[in-house]
Amino acid sequence: MFITEDIKYIGVNDHNIDLFEGQYDVPNGMSYNSYAICDEKIAIMDTVDVNFKDEWLSNIKNAIGDKVPDYLVVHHMEPDHSANILEFTKVYPDCRIVASQKAFVMMKQFFGTDFSDRQLIVGEGDTLSLGEHTLTFVTAPMVHWPEVIVSYDSKDKVLFSADGFGKFGALDVQEDWACEARRYYIGIVGKYGIQVQALLKKASNLDIEIICPLHGPVLKENLGYYINLYDVWSSYKAEEEGIMIAYTSVYGNTKKAVEYLEEKLIQKGAKKVVVNDLARCDMAEAVEDAFRYSKLVLATTTYNADVFPFMRTFIDHLTERNYQQRQIAFIENGSWAPMATKVMKEMLSKSKNLTLCETEVKIMSSMNDDTKNALDKLSDELLK
Ligand code: FEO
Repeated sequence: MFITEDIKYIGVNDHNIDLFEGQYDVPNGMSYNSYAICDEKIAIMDTVDVNFKDEWLSNIKNAIGDKVPDYLVVHHMEPDHSANILEFTKVYPDCRIVASQKAFVMMKQFFGTDFSDRQLIVGEGDTLSLGEHTLTFVTAPMVHWPEVIVSYDSKDKVLFSADGFGKFGALDVQEDWACEARRYYIGIVGKYGIQVQALLKKASNLDIEIICPLHGPVLKENLGYYINLYDVWSSYKAEEEGIMIAYTSVYGNTKKAVEYLEEKLIQKGAKKVVVNDLARCDMAEAVEDAFRYSKLVLATTTYNADVFPFMRTFIDHLTERNYQQRQIAFIENGSWAPMATKVMKEMLSKSKNLTLCETEVKIMSSMNDDTKNALDKLSDELLK
C-alpha cells in the first residue's frame, strides 16, 4: 500500500491478541505499523510485534524486492514495535540501525547486543539523507517511553509519530477514530501530558501533511482535528460538557440512587449523562469517560472500613494519569459507619484544580426521602 509515491505501508494487523500491553481489551485487534521509504537509500521505519516476523519480512520483500535496506529506524523500543530488530539484522546484516542513545541501551537489554557495529545514534535535530528524502529527528521522551524519537520527512511532509496519534483497532476494521484513539491515549500516554504538549509544540514548527503513527490509520486529511484532540487530552481539559457517573453497587441500593440522579439530571435538561458500573464495564472505557467529560460523580459503598475495591482501582487510574480540572461529586453508602467519601477525597487530595460539589449524598443502606432530596439538590448543583 502506497502512502506516497516513495513511502509504502508494510505493517500488520493482529486479531489474535487478547490484551494489549497485558491489560487493554482490544475487541477490534491492533495494528503494528511499519513503513518503507524507497529513495536512493531505503529506510525501514520500525519493526512489528514478535508474532508477525514472517509476515513483516515478507511485506518488506514485497515493498523493496531484491534491494537491501540501508537503514532500520527505531523510533520506540517497546516490543510491539522493536521485537524483530535482531531477526531483521540476520536477514539484512549490512543495514544500519538508527535510534536514540537510550534505545541502543534497551537493545542490549532486550537482545544482548547493542549492534555497535552498525549503530547510528541520532538526537534532537539530527538529519539523515536518503536522497531526495531527508529525515529530521525530534526527541519525544515519555511519549511513551524515555528513548522515543519521532522523525519528519521534509519531502513528503510526513511525521512518523511513534505511539503519538495511535489507536486501538486493526486497520481492516472500520470504526470511529476518536473513540479508540482516546481510550488508547488516556490509558497509555495519559500520565505524560506535559511531554505530549512539548512534542506538539515542536511539531507545530513543521509543515505536516501526513501523520504515520505506529498504531492505527495513517492520517492524511483534516489534521487539525486530530492535533486539536491531542492538545485537549494532553492539557487535561474536558473535551465535552457532560456528567459521568461512576459507581459500584453490592445489593443494588447505590445503583438505585445513581439511577435516580441520572433521571433527575435528564429531566432538568442535562445534555450528556454517562453511567458506568465499575465492576462490569471496561475499566479503560470508564477512565476514558472521566477524562472526556467535565463533571464526575463517584458513587460507592464503604467496604472493610475503606472504599469498594473497583472504585479504589478506578480512582488510582485517574490519579496515576494526573486527573485534574474537573467538578466532582460524592455519593456514599454504608450501613453502620460510612467511610467511602472520606477515603475518595483523600485519594483525590493531590489532584490539581478539582472543584468538589458542596452537596454530599450519604445513603444509610437504602434510599429514603432525605437521600432523594440530597440527590435532587446535587443534580441542581451539577447543572449550575
Ligand atoms: Fe506501541 Fe509504546 O508501544
